[in-house]
Amino acid sequence: MKVPQHIAIIMDGNGRWAEKMGFSRTAGHKAGMESIKATLNACRELGVKVLTVYAFSTENWRRSKIEIRFLMNYLKDFLIEYESELNKKDVRLNTIGQFSRLPALVKKELSRVMEKTRSNQGLIFNLALSYGGRAEIIEAVRKLIEDLRAEKIRLSQINEDVFSQYLYTDGLPDPDLLIRTGGEMRISNFLLWQISYSELYVTPTFWPDFRRVDLIKAVTEYSRRKRRFGGVKNAG
Ligand code: FPP
Repeated sequence: MKVPQHIAIIMDGNGRWAEKMGFSRTAGHKAGMESIKATLNACRELGVKVLTVYAFSTENWRRSKIEIRFLMNYLKDFLIEYESELNKKDVRLNTIGQFSRLPALVKKELSRVMEKTRSNQGLIFNLALSYGGRAEIIEAVRKLIEDLRAEKIRLSQINEDVFSQYLYTDGLPDPDLLIRTGGEMRISNFLLWQISYSELYVTPTFWPDFRRVDLIKAVTEYSRRKRRFGGVKNAG
């Protein structure tokens, strides 16, 4: 089976899953965390190199204070609880997004765990937090203009590869497969630049129900797709 190097996931449907079960939204997020763990294990098993999950968008700051506080606290606890497991599984933690907007305690834990896992090589677990694709592109443009002004780069040198280096995902391959759970047919401001040629896979399964078997299904479907990258021949 052809395995994607980089899988990106829009983990949608925690709220709807909770509603269906008669639970609170926070119970949906808790169950969603179990899906993250199961997916991480399955990616290790398959030999996926990068897993990016959309954990909190720039738009999510508009949710209720209670829900935001829960998500941030839960993330902090997860980092503390799961650090040794990440090391055991040879997983390196990375984040993309507006790091500075996160609460101090979350930033502290993220930095600590990123440092503790930085030499792990099995898989990069890339958490998109306070992430927005448009904001990322604007930030990249700002940095690029600063470098132009400082004459660190010339206008004629700017191309797609150079521009990519100004994005949060600098150094990571583009996603080969983008999975969205919860059935909506939208990109929702996720990795706008990086998914130009990604294969899309949407499943009606709500994120808290997503498990190893669902990931295998998505990867199996991916491995059957013919990727042409805009060309006419089968580019593999
Ligand atoms: C989408 O479900 C999910 C999120 C906004 C957050 C994803 C969070 C987790 C999987 C839990 C772990 C938390 C962190 C921060 C790592 P939704 O609430 O939008 O669902 P709905 O569309 O059914 O309402």
